[in-house]
Parts: sequence; structure tokens; C-alpha cells
Amino acid sequence: MKRRARILIGVLGATALGVSLPSCRPDAAQGQGQADTSAVGGFEAPVDVDTTGLPGPRQPIFYRHDVHAGQYEMDCRYCHFAAEVSPSAGLPTVSTCMGCHILAGSGNPEVQKLRDYWNERRPIEWVEIHELAPFVRFPHNRHVMSDKELECQDCHGPVQEMPQVYKYASLKMGWCITCHQKEEVSTDCTVCHY
Ligand code: HEC
Ligand code: HEC
Ligand code: HEC
Ligand code: HEC
Ligand code: HEC
Repeated sequence: MKRRARILIGVLGATALGVSLPSCRPDAAQGQGQADTSAVGGFEAPVDVDTTGLPGPRQPIFYRHDVHAGQYEMDCRYCHFAAEVSPSAGLPTVSTCMGCHILAGSGNPEVQKLRDYWNERRPIEWVEIHELAPFVRFPHNRHVMSDKELECQDCHGPVQEMPQVYKYASLKMGWCITCHQKEEVSTDCTVCHY
């Protein structure tokens, strides 16, 4: 499942650079062994979203996970690739976005904001949603690459359906311990505390 999505985004990313907007859509992957991609998962992000009632902090650009990761089924790792190789999952750079948005989304005012950041060579200052105390050690790579097959969603909830990301789990010590006990991982204090 993960692998399929990753191949799909490879096709998307490549076509997005050279061709017009419709090629940026998963439909473009048809004929590459990715049948029925226009309705993959069948999830359609709502067109009009009232942002006032949404949980989670307001971001400088209304970037939507439900559009990208949901409707277009982009793999989480396309943008958060560091999750597999480092303690931090990291955020994508503006140039990752611009691989598609040189073309995609013209006329959308939020996409225009993105292009302004790009043209002015300014990084986007995304508002941090998850932050553990500095005395806690949390390695993403150990969790994501574990043979216990944890999904991002196990800890972050259904991000692919969120127009705006919010903190889904408490991130309290009890939350960590409960899962470690269930998965038979060590709960020694020194595992998580320096
Ligand atoms: C096209 C790029 C892209 C894709 C694909 C993507 N994300 Fe993100 N993600 C971002 C950006 C940009 C932010 C920062 C803005 C925000 O919070 O919406 C972010 C923020 C987040 C955050 C909150 C970070 C914080 O500050 O604590 C989580 C959690 C997250 N993403 C998980 C996921 C998961 C899970 C998936 C797959 C279902 C995914 N993302 C797919 C670009 C992406
Ligand atoms: C693989 C291609 C791809 C990448 C990478 C990508 N996008 Fe998009 N994005 C799209 C497509 C396709 C749409 C839908 C455009 C439309 O409906 O006209 C879209 C829509 C949007 C919209 C408008 C959302 C709405 O419907 O209101 C914003 C804002 C946006 N993207 C921001 C970003 C940001 C910020 C990044 C980087 C973190 C990013 N995108 C990365 C393909 C991409
Ligand atoms: C076992 C639970 C767990 C899993 C699985 C997990 N995360 Fe996280 N994630 C966290 C915690 C806890 C934090 C806060 C980390 C911190 O503050 O140091 C976090 C923070 C983040 C952030 C904010 C930036 C950062 O690195 O601190 C992003 C983005 C993110 N996660 C994306 C993902 C993606 C994408 C996946 C799947 C590839 C994933 N996470 C899998 C628990 C998890
Ligand atoms: C959904 C289940 C789950 C949650 C929630 C979770 N973990 Fe884990 N954690 C695991 C699993 C499974 C492993 C073992 C990975 C492996 O097989 O190497 C692990 C491994 C670790 C390791 C590496 C252990 C070592 O031997 O080096 C640390 C550190 C860690 N977790 C910290 C945390 C912290 C801190 C939190 C809470 C903020 C947390 N975990 C929440 C499942 C979870
Ligand atoms: C699986 C990871 C994990 C293990 C194991 C763990 N902790 Fe924690 N601990 C955390 C996290 C995450 C927090 C931060 C909770 C928060 O911010 O509310 C924390 C917070 C704390 C705090 C600060 C509490 C507070 O209210 O600020 C103390 C003290 C503490 N832990 C002691 C311990 C001791 C003693 C052990 C061993 C018996 C232990 N921890 C084992 C993850 C862990």
C-alpha cells in the first residue's frame, strides 16, 4: 500500500514539472499500472471549507492535507521524508511545493501566497503543532521503520482527511507508555529520558 502510493507520486512529481495542471492529478498516472486513480480511496476533499471552526492552529498558507494526502493520495513521506531516516519528520521546503505549483492551482489566492514566498526566496514559517519537552527523546525513524508496522495515522490520526492539522494524541507520558507496553517495547525511564 505504501509502496504503491510512493510510485504514484513519483509519476505525479515528474509529470507535474513538464505538463499542464491536469497532469498533476493522479489521473495522469493511468497507463503506468495505476488503474482507477481518479477515485482512489474514493475520498474527495470538500471544495469550500469554513476555516473559522477548524481545530488546530491557523497556518500562514491554508495548505490542505485533505487535498494533497487525501484526494490526491500523496504519500506522507513525499514531504516528510526525514521521518524514515532521522529523529525528526521534518517539513518540506518551498521548492518541494513549487515542483507542482509553478503550474498547479493558478488563480487560487492561497497558491499565490506560496508563489510569493518562492519569488521572494522566503521560507514559510509554519506554526508548530507537536512539540515535546526537551527532556524527552522521540525518534521518528525508530517508530516508522519498526517491524511493528506503525502508521503515521496511529499517532497523528486521519491527517489525510484534515483540512488543517491539529494535535490528535495527547503526547503525554502515559500515551507513550501504553503503546510501548502493548507492543512490548522497553519502558525504562532512560529509553525516553536523557
Ligand atoms: C505536499 C506535502 C505534504 C504531504 C504529502 C503531507 N504533508 Fe504533512 N505537512 C506539510 C506541511 C507544509 C506542514 C506544515 C503546515 C501544516 O501544519 O499544515 C505539514 C504538517 C504536518 C504535521 C504537523 C507538524 C507539526 O507542526 O507538528 C503532521 C503531523 C503531518 N504533517 C503529518 C502528515 C501525514 C501523516 C501525511 C500523510 C497522510 C502528510 N503529513 C502528508 C506537508 C505535507
Ligand atoms: C505533487 C504535486 C503537488 C505538490 C508537491 C504540492 N501540491 Fe498543492 N496542490 C496540488 C494540486 C493538484 C492541487 C489542486 C489544484 C486545483 O484544484 O486547482 C493543489 C492545491 C493546493 C492549494 C489550494 C488548496 C485548496 O483547494 O484550497 C494550496 C494552498 C496548495 N496546494 C499548497 C501547497 C503547498 C504549500 C505545498 C508544499 C508544502 C504543495 N501544495 C505541494 C498539487 C501539489
Ligand atoms: C509513535 C507515534 C508516531 C508515529 C508513528 C509518527 N509520529 Fe510524527 N510525531 C510524533 C510525536 C510524538 C511528535 C512530536 C515530536 C517532537 O516534538 O519531538 C511528532 C511530530 C511530527 C511532525 C512535526 C515535525 C517533527 O519532526 O517534530 C511531523 C511533520 C510528523 N510528526 C509527521 C509524521 C509522519 C509523516 C509520520 C509517518 C511517516 C509520523 N509522523 C509518524 C509521533 C509519531
Ligand atoms: C503507537 C505505539 C507507540 C507510541 C504511541 C509510542 N511509541 Fe515509542 N516505540 C514504539 C515501538 C513499536 C518501538 C520499537 C521500535 C523498534 O522495533 O525498534 C518504539 C521505540 C521507541 C524508542 C526507541 C527505543 C530504543 O530501544 O532505543 C523510543 C526512544 C521511543 N519509542 C520513545 C517514545 C516516546 C517518547 C513516545 C511518546 C511521545 C512514544 N515512543 C510513543 C511504539 C510506540
Ligand atoms: C515511552 C516513553 C517514556 C518513558 C518510558 C518514560 N517517560 Fe517520562 N515522560 C515521557 C513524556 C512524553 C513526557 C512529557 C509529558 C508531558 O509533556 O506532559 C514525560 C514526562 C516525565 C516527567 C515530567 C512530568 C511532568 O509533569 O512534567 C517526569 C518526572 C518523568 N517523565 C519521569 C519518568 C520516569 C521516572 C520514568 C521511568 C519510570 C519515565 N518517565 C519513563 C515519556 C516517557
